[in-house]
Amino acid sequence: MLSIGDVQLQTNLLLAPVAGYFDLAYRKVVRSVGGVPCRPGDVSGPRDVGDGTYGAVGLTCTELLCPHAVLREADRAMWRAATDDEDRPVAMQLYGCDADILCEAARWAEARGATIIDINMGCPVDKVTKKHGGSKLLCTPGSTAKLAAAVVNAVSVPVTAKIRLGWDDDQIIVDTLPPALCDAGVQMITVHGRTTAMRFKPSVRLDGIAQTVAAVKRRHPDLPVIGNGDITTPADAERMVDATGCDGVMVARGAMGQPWLFRDIAHRLATGEDPPPLPRHERARLVLAHFENLARYRDDKVALRTIRQRISKYSAHLQPWPGLRRSVAAITDADAFRDFWQAGVGRLRVEHEAEALAPV
Ligand SMILES: Cc1cc2nc3c(=O)[nH]c(=O)nc-3n(C[C@H](O)[C@H](O)[C@H](O)COP(=O)(O)O)c2cc1C
Repeated sequence: MLSIGDVQLQTNLLLAPVAGYFDLAYRKVVRSVGGVPCRPGDVSGPRDVGDGTYGAVGLTCTELLCPHAVLREADRAMWRAATDDEDRPVAMQLYGCDADILCEAARWAEARGATIIDINMGCPVDKVTKKHGGSKLLCTPGSTAKLAAAVVNAVSVPVTAKIRLGWDDDQIIVDTLPPALCDAGVQMITVHGRTTAMRFKPSVRLDGIAQTVAAVKRRHPDLPVIGNGDITTPADAERMVDATGCDGVMVARGAMGQPWLFRDIAHRLATGEDPPPLPRHERARLVLAHFENLARYRDDKVALRTIRQRISKYSAHLQPWPGLRRSVAAITDADAFRDFWQAGVGRLRVEHEAEALAPV
């Protein structure tokens, strides 16, 4: 089992921080999909999803949070940082380069339920790097390790860091910065196998992740290193683990529109085989759960707008459902969406039962 300091994770599968996507409403849907058998005697807590299994995701994370905004408790920052007792364990991710403000924000996050504080050292966006935050921290390993040490000393929960391979090919930091961060008290490194210059393409470099794992393990054999990049199927996750020796995997874009992906990955990593696909009516039910979470935590308007924006991602995993995207685009009222979707779930269930009864 994967441990981050004194925090034990149920699985070694992590949902990535993704700005604008993986908020509380979506994280709770991802958590609700099981797949890992409950062990007798375990304290199941909120991760027991009710069918004799735990949610297959071991850790989730808020999107990157601006320390100034959370300390001001600005409305948008509050929603980005929102969590609750069932959204555990959860990391809150902070970015920036000012040790005092970062430490204050880390204490704020700990007081509001963060199980873990993650420091963003991978964001390539100009708005963040121009102020020396995000992946710009990779360019100054000495002061970045000191910054991490300050945050470690400011809180009593574990501190982790999410990095890239370096700023560009001339400034690869995998042999130096990750072990230095661990010397400074950081308890887990997640490495996105690209440089800042690569942004989100081309293909992830598994050899760079393997090099990071080796560099950390040489000095800190017990600290976990998580591999991230281009995992969209269980086979991708298996390849990441096999090729790099990483202790777990983190998924971002691959989990958009398929919150059940962790169930499938957990099964593949445990058995070497893909599980039977989650039936379409159960997938559709999760979309409705996402909608209702958004309605509950925000309001009907935000729920409808968000699902309309995400329907192309979901639609890809619900086919055949003729005219799905067109129908959803035409819906302008939340209750009309509920009616439409419940009817759809019912129809998919009937189709599923008919398929199960059909002679082979
Ligand atoms: C829209 C978008 C928003 C992201 N927001 C964050 C963020 O807030 N914090 C962070 O550390 N990484 C962020 N990332 C990077 C992802 O966490 C991840 O490292 C990257 O997408 C590679 O993983 P993937 O191939 O599984 O998508 C973001 C990526 C995307 C596409």
